[in-house]
Amino acid sequence: MNILVIGGGAREHAICWSIKKSKECKELFCIPGNAGIQEIAICKEINLKNKRELLKFCKEKVIDLVVIGPEQYLEDGISDFLRSKKISVFGPSKKAAKLETSKTFAKNFLLKNNINTANYSEFQSYSNAKKFIKTSKFPLVIKADGLAAGKGVIICSSKKEAFIGLDKIMKQKKFGKAGNKIIIEDYLDGFEISYFAFFDKNSFLKLGYALDHKRAFDEDKGPNTGGMGSFTPSKVVTKKMEAEILKKIVKPTFQGLKKEDLIYRGILFFGLMITKKGPFVIEYNVRFGDPECQTLLRNLKTDLLKIIKLNIQDRLSEIQIKNTKQNVITVVLASKGYPGKFKINSKLKNLSNASSIKGVEIFHAGTAIKKGKVVSTGGRVLSITSKAKNLKTARIQAYKTIELIDWSNGFFRSDIGLKNS
Ligand code: AMP
Ligand code: GLY
Repeated sequence: MNILVIGGGAREHAICWSIKKSKECKELFCIPGNAGIQEIAICKEINLKNKRELLKFCKEKVIDLVVIGPEQYLEDGISDFLRSKKISVFGPSKKAAKLETSKTFAKNFLLKNNINTANYSEFQSYSNAKKFIKTSKFPLVIKADGLAAGKGVIICSSKKEAFIGLDKIMKQKKFGKAGNKIIIEDYLDGFEISYFAFFDKNSFLKLGYALDHKRAFDEDKGPNTGGMGSFTPSKVVTKKMEAEILKKIVKPTFQGLKKEDLIYRGILFFGLMITKKGPFVIEYNVRFGDPECQTLLRNLKTDLLKIIKLNIQDRLSEIQIKNTKQNVITVVLASKGYPGKFKINSKLKNLSNASSIKGVEIFHAGTAIKKGKVVSTGGRVLSITSKAKNLKTARIQAYKTIELIDWSNGFFRSDIGLKNS
């Protein structure tokens, strides 16, 4: 098969790395890719807003399957467009992607299907939202309805913070039209897990879970990021809890989609808060998580391409997923300043030496080759993913790798995999 992966993060590097291992993968392409991906796939820059150009590329390269990484392209309807041109796509339709691209759609879906989620109210009017805040209890959470690159959620511990947050979303339009509508919801207390299952028309198949580290700095301090590290498994996620997640969250989601005749083909990511009252859905994401994907794909024993092929044919029930019995951890190296402003084009040295550490894979995110050297081009730059018989060893291997990487402009969290492990 000739396969095209869309995206250029460490998630897509891990997807390419997994697919490349499959015997059935003939040629692998990636748009746009990065310095790491280009070692295993043919990378190409194409303006993805121009769907015709994408189609031309797929035809020229005789692409059999397109795997879409980031949510934005799902919202843009690339999956529907390619399918209408008879090209197989791994990734849900624009309509099904609303589970992530519209928080009000997701909340309505959860409510209709009696799936635990925080109580919420929906607002399109600034003054009504302000009135509501005046009589609310704190902390509370304000969320822009649409996609905001993971930044449209504001946790407010006081009335003052809530007014500032509301202004930011609805008045200053910091997230553009994603903030035309908002939801205000109760704050959930507990610990978070990212749970993943493949979904098709007829069934679903559990992949696994990972614990993400959202805040930029150690001890969960600093601003929210896309994720600074992840690991699996965790002792706090018991078999009993997993069974509860399946029963109370995953199954009712599948049944709810069926009731609405909404066909979801792809990976579904449940952002869960495990509270004293059991698991609650914080959000759905219609894609792999980053950095959870890197961790989970290194843990996966089954051929990813085989799963994807059966998934797009609604034949998930014919396969079983096997994971290793090992511990996997991913530590993200990011540009100093991320998730705020950061410098680009700084050189990363000694990567090949660092990647020789046992059990470690280095997945690239914001990197490119300039004048023959690897340079940084984004906020999150590398994912160091390490596997071992126990978490302690996996951690040691990951941090040893980071020590060997010579990059003065980077930072990382030193406490990945310490809490809830
Ligand atoms: P989201 O984009 O919805 O995943 O939210 C980003 C992050 O904000 C989540 O991963 C949580 O850490 C936090 N968050 C969102 N909603 C809530 C909530 N209702 N209670 C507590 N924390 C929340
Ligand atoms: N790491 C969380 C996400 O991918 O949204």
